[in-house]
Amino acid sequence: MTDDRDTLKVINNFALRLIAIPTKHELAWFIAREVVGPLGFDDCVVYLYDEEKEVLRQTAAIGELKNPTSEEIRNPLEIRIGQGITGHVAQFQEPLVIDVLSKDDRYIPDIGIAQSEICVPLVADGRLFGVIDSESPTAFHFTDTHLQTLTTVAAMASAKLRLLEQDRTLEMHEKLLAAEKETLHALHVAETANKAKTDFLATMSHELRTPLTSIRGALGLLNASVISNQTEDNQSLLDMAMRNCDALVNLVNDFLDYEKIIAGKMVLSAAPVEIGQLAKSTVDISQGLAQTYSIRFVFNETTAPMWARVDETRYVQILRNLLSNAAKFSPIGSPVEISVDDTDTHIRTSVKDFGIGIADKHRFDVFERFTQIDSSDARRQSGTGLGLAISSSLAKSMDGILNFESSLGEGSVFYVDLPKIDNYPG
Ligand SMILES: Nc1ncnc2c1ncn2[C@@H]1O[C@H](COP(=O)(O)OP(=O)(O)OP(=O)(O)O)[C@@H](O)[C@H]1O
Ligand SMILES: [Mg+2]
Repeated sequence: MTDDRDTLKVINNFALRLIAIPTKHELAWFIAREVVGPLGFDDCVVYLYDEEKEVLRQTAAIGELKNPTSEEIRNPLEIRIGQGITGHVAQFQEPLVIDVLSKDDRYIPDIGIAQSEICVPLVADGRLFGVIDSESPTAFHFTDTHLQTLTTVAAMASAKLRLLEQDRTLEMHEKLLAAEKETLHALHVAETANKAKTDFLATMSHELRTPLTSIRGALGLLNASVISNQTEDNQSLLDMAMRNCDALVNLVNDFLDYEKIIAGKMVLSAAPVEIGQLAKSTVDISQGLAQTYSIRFVFNETTAPMWARVDETRYVQILRNLLSNAAKFSPIGSPVEISVDDTDTHIRTSVKDFGIGIADKHRFDVFERFTQIDSSDARRQSGTGLGLAISSSLAKSMDGILNFESSLGEGSVFYVDLPKIDNYPG
């Protein structure tokens, strides 16, 4: 053991250098080489506590037998808490001096047999960071001075270990914050891009609507005025132009509707409407669809009037979309049944088809915008996949709901429930 002056020098040097030591590993080696060794201990092992594995791990050492040439330990042991003398010190967080190791059955021999041992815990705020251990080949080697000196070293080391731990936590927080910032930025970029895309589509649709409407008008006039002396070829060209023009007008209108709905700008004017009549007239004006797809619309007449609070135009829009879907996905010659029923709280309009049906796994997909279940090249039917997304939002805006039941290969029933008005207009 060094004298008081030298001890003070070593401790002083430790205190001055401590602040600049960057890692736990380097601290352990500094303690062994630059502190405990120069203090006159012939042997020293610094164990650091691995919280995850709950073991003390030999991290740095000096001494004849452990004597590493570089930062390497021969036979690095891992000790469980409570195991041996070091494990005991770690468990109870109290220093121990064993004068005669041969009489202590906790002793676990390392490289070579020792006669006495001193071990102090590395603890800060009740938290275990490790232990400093020294052995001697002589019994009764360690004195109170050894104990006091090593305890001082351990106290300084523990404070530094705690600081390093806090630094690490801080660093992790900073990293997390940076990652979060990056995610938010990416989200913002994606949202901006999405908005730019929607704005562009909306502007383009607006711009397209006027010329398209006039083209459609001109085609209609042409069709009407020259019908008498039309050749077959010209007529079929004209028909095709009108069909495609109608499809484009519908697409543009659907898109503009959808854009209005998501922007919360869709204004509905709900009023009491007799649904039986409105449904029937909607089916009547949709007979063209039935012809196009060679199916039959069968309307189940009802006698009692059924009043609901709806926006007439939007109700017609929903029903026409359901009729068009039923027609598109039905086999040729098949009926599509339309009925209006009273469910006590709502007036239900149902459209039942005997077509391809919808698999359970696509139950929620059909209401997603731009979703079409069979999007393969083999898909026969036209459309953009906006119809049900729009219809469902419209139904909700009228305090109603759009839903369906279906079995694959057998057909589907789509129904829209709208708030019923009792005893109207009586
Ligand atoms: N009656 C039905 N039978 C079988 N599948 C249907 C039926 N109705 C809708 N679907 C499926 O749901 C998808 C979405 O329907 P939606 O009405 O939203 O779009 P679309 O008819 O394809 O196009 P759009 O209505 O915009 O012209 C359809 O493409 C189809 O795959
Ligand atoms: Mg549709």
